[in-house]
Order: sequence, then C-alpha cells, then structure tokens
Amino acid sequence: MIAITGANGHLGSLIIDHLLQSISPGTILPIVRDQVKGLPFKKKGMEVRVANYADLRSYLKALEGVKVLIQISTTSVGEQGIKEEMNVVSAAKVNGVEHIIYTSSLAPSLNHQFQGATQAYSTESEIKLSQIPYTFFRNSLYMEVIPSLVDPTCLEKGILPYPAGNGRISFVSRADIAEAMAMVAIHPEEHKNQAYEITGNQSFTFSELADQLQKVKPRTFKYLDISIGEYHDTLRQYQIPEPTTEFLSSMAAGIQKDEFALVTNTLEELLERKPTMLHRYLKGL
Ligand SMILES: NC(=O)c1ccc[n+]([C@@H]2O[C@H](COP(=O)([O-])OP(=O)(O)OC[C@H]3O[C@@H](n4cnc5c(N)ncnc54)[C@H](OP(=O)(O)O)[C@@H]3O)[C@@H](O)[C@H]2O)c1
Repeated sequence: MIAITGANGHLGSLIIDHLLQSISPGTILPIVRDQVKGLPFKKKGMEVRVANYADLRSYLKALEGVKVLIQISTTSVGEQGIKEEMNVVSAAKVNGVEHIIYTSSLAPSLNHQFQGATQAYSTESEIKLSQIPYTFFRNSLYMEVIPSLVDPTCLEKGILPYPAGNGRISFVSRADIAEAMAMVAIHPEEHKNQAYEITGNQSFTFSELADQLQKVKPRTFKYLDISIGEYHDTLRQYQIPEPTTEFLSSMAAGIQKDEFALVTNTLEELLERKPTMLHRYLKGL
C-alpha cells in the first residue's frame, strides 16, 4: 500500500493521477485532513483516511498497514511545522513503514536564510534517525508558484516587484516532480537512501524571468527589485499572518543568497526526458 499525505494538495493529487496510470486504486491510500477533500479519491475507488499532521494519534492510525509513504511537507511554518513533520515520521516508525519519500527543500540546512531549509533539515535528520529507508526530493521552487510571488495586479501591468536581487532560481515544474515521485514510489528499492536535488535545467534571475515572460506574452515585463522590508509591508497589507510573512520573506532572502540557484540533471535522469522549460509554463499562464 502506498500512502500519500496532503493527498488533495496540488502535488499530492498530481502524484495520485500518475500512480493510477500504473497501479490499481486499491493499492493507493490518500490521506487528507478534511474528509470532504477525500471524496474525489473515494469516487475513484481508493480508501481514504483522515489525519492531521498536528495530531500524532490521528497519524498513528492513518499509517496502519502502510508500506511506502509519500510524505508531503506541511504548509505550517516555524516550530509548528517542524513538530508536525516529526509526528508523521514517528507514526511511520511505529507502524513499520518500509520507505518514506519526503518532499524536502533544495538546500536543507540550519544555517540558511530560508526557514523551510531548517524544517527540511530537521525532518530529513529525523527520518535518517528512524532508520526507515528514504528518498528525499529536495525541490527547488515550483514554477507554478511564480504567479503567487508577485501581486496579481502587478503581473497584469507587466511589473514584477520582488526582493530577489540578482539571485538565481532553478524553477522546476511541480507536475514533473509529481511524475518522478510516483515513479519512485512504485520502485522505491531502486532509490533507497537517496537525496535528489530536484531542479529545472536552467536557473534565472528575476530580470531574466521578466525577459522570459516578455518573449511569450504580448506585452512588456519589468523586474522591480524592492527591499525585503517593502515586501514585508506588502504581505502585511494583504493581512497574511505574521509567521507566514516571515517565512515568505526568508524565502526571498534565501533567493538573494542563491539558495535556490543549484542546477542538476537529476530530474531529467529520473524522468528519462527533458524537464518542462520555464517559457513553456509561462506561455500557459
Ligand atoms: N518548492 C516550492 O516551490 C513549494 C511551493 C509551495 C509549497 N511547497 C511545499 O510543498 C508541499 C506540497 O506542495 P503543494 O503545491 O501540493 O501544496 P498545497 O497544494 O498547499 O498542498 C498542501 C497539502 O498539505 C496538506 N496539509 C497542510 N497542513 C496539514 C496538516 N497539518 N495536516 C494534514 N495535512 C496538511 C494540505 O491539506 P489542506 O488542503 O487541508 O490544507 C494539502 O493537502 C507544500 O505542503 C509545501 O510544504 C513547496
């Protein structure tokens, strides 16, 4: 049985679509935190379990009988995020899960600007400590989040205000990641104890992102290099909770320091084809 946490999220549901192309619904176990969000999977013949990362007991129950676990990282941030991910690893250990495939971050570290790097480092360490065989998908930034990085009205006007400086980002397609993760979940033994740096085939500065947009859209685009403080203020205007504002600001600071700049051909090797190019994604926006 392959279980997927965060099954109804963007990545989780794409992974399930890919799994369904190769294995029967009866061997796929979506885990959601809201029963209603599990209904589409039930309709397709899958058993669905309900559990919350914040509730260890719910995960102890949800992982009963699971052999392979696709652990999607939480959307909670800071200490709460770390605690939630620990709960999933603990529940996996108690239930004798035989392989964890975890969505980590490109550069897991306790010393990086990006807060998510600390969370990823902590969870990777906990998984290693549990001695459960693992595969880490250390994902760079999804290209699919680009529209949410800047104010939508600015995107319409052709202006990209963001505090990236000259930092480079190896944007990667979330859809490609889903395909690769499904493939690894079906043959986990071939990817035992591997940490994969998952990136696009190229990296881009925000100025280059604006150039790419200009090539595929019938208008001009300009990057506006704002300060982290200005970005922080904008997020506050949208009434984004302070911990999330801090998290998003730390991501921008990480980009400035090239924490998302690494380019590898690991994804291409896993997929045995070229990953989606940025301009292809931008064209469909
Ligand atoms: N590399 C990147 O660029 C990037 C960008 C965005 C996110 N991420 C990370 O990658 C993960 C997957 O991305 P995505 O696009 O699929 O995100 P997403 O669409 O927001 O999905 C996140 C999933 O996690 C579930 N979840 C969150 N907190 C939970 C909790 N406490 N207990 C149980 N389930 C919980 C959500 O459930 P609900 O639907 O009930 O909320 C949802 O199913 C995210 O969770 C985030 O950690 C990475």
